[in-house]
Amino acid sequence: MSIEARLSKLQSLVEETFLLWDQVRIGWSWRHYYLNHTLRVRALALELGKHEGADPDVVAFAATLHDITKRYDGNVIMGPDGKRLVDKNGYWMTETLQPTRENRVTRLYDALGLAGQPHHYSGAVLAEHLLTEEGFSPEFAASVAAVIRAHVAPQTASPEEREALYRAPEARVLSDADLIDANLGLVAFYRNIQIHAGRMLQQTGCVDPGAYIEVVERWVNSKDSFLESLLTPSGREVAAQRQARNRQLVEWIAEERALGPVAWEYGLLGVIAFLLEDSYDPCLTRALRLLEELWLPNRQARLSNDGSSPHARALLVRSDQFRNLLHEEVAGRL
Ligand SMILES: [Fe+2]
Ligand SMILES: [Fe+2]
Repeated sequence: MSIEARLSKLQSLVEETFLLWDQVRIGWSWRHYYLNHTLRVRALALELGKHEGADPDVVAFAATLHDITKRYDGNVIMGPDGKRLVDKNGYWMTETLQPTRENRVTRLYDALGLAGQPHHYSGAVLAEHLLTEEGFSPEFAASVAAVIRAHVAPQTASPEEREALYRAPEARVLSDADLIDANLGLVAFYRNIQIHAGRMLQQTGCVDPGAYIEVVERWVNSKDSFLESLLTPSGREVAAQRQARNRQLVEWIAEERALGPVAWEYGLLGVIAFLLEDSYDPCLTRALRLLEELWLPNRQARLSNDGSSPHARALLVRSDQFRNLLHEEVAGRL
């Protein structure tokens, strides 16, 4: 079997595994997030890896399997002081969620006694076993496992321990791609939209786009510190570009708020309202497809009857630009 076919087989197993739980939203994740995030992280890690001298096979398998046990993580456990509980290595402690259905991965998880371990640790052990079962060499399986184990940095590690953990370029690019995906750029903006939507749904039963746009600037500002924590030059470059892209979003939002209804119809504000609509069981790849096949063509058609607005056309061009940039980020190209 070719390496591509073996990767594709394991990707199918990851896809199947993520759907064994019926919970739609858990903490800052939702059921389609796990796979969408995994595939984006792989695309970006492979891209960064080209500049960092990483072995693409190790990167591809490690990225595909890096969050394979993540769905066992339930809500973060809070202490009596209202703060998150952390274990001896400084990792947040979470409740363990049992899957509704079982498969090869969950049976292996149980057989290896991985319950209660942080997901980067259980994921590493599980991936090493899976790869060995699939006939990969013990060396390859161990390299992939080490990269998965390093994708969450221990808060308490000494400089020497960190140096050992991230000596391999594959470990550095996976860690960077994972951090970038969750925190920077338009993909992280979509994540932030859905985190807020989930919170609003829980608190009031509905989402309020006007209230959401109030928080975007503060969120973008809070991400500056991530640029410092990245491990590779190419990761820092992508991160800086993504943060600049999000600063641009903040400017666009301020400008469009002054324009009012036409911006909620054709502009980025309209796109944000559209993304917030699909918040019960969100999926970025589906939202992107609907933007492209429905939302934009719909407004394009409406423009022909609404040509009197001086801003509508320019706003629609901006919305299409947003869609295109989001598409490129999903593919790991930006
Ligand atoms: Fe992870
Ligand atoms: Fe991840």
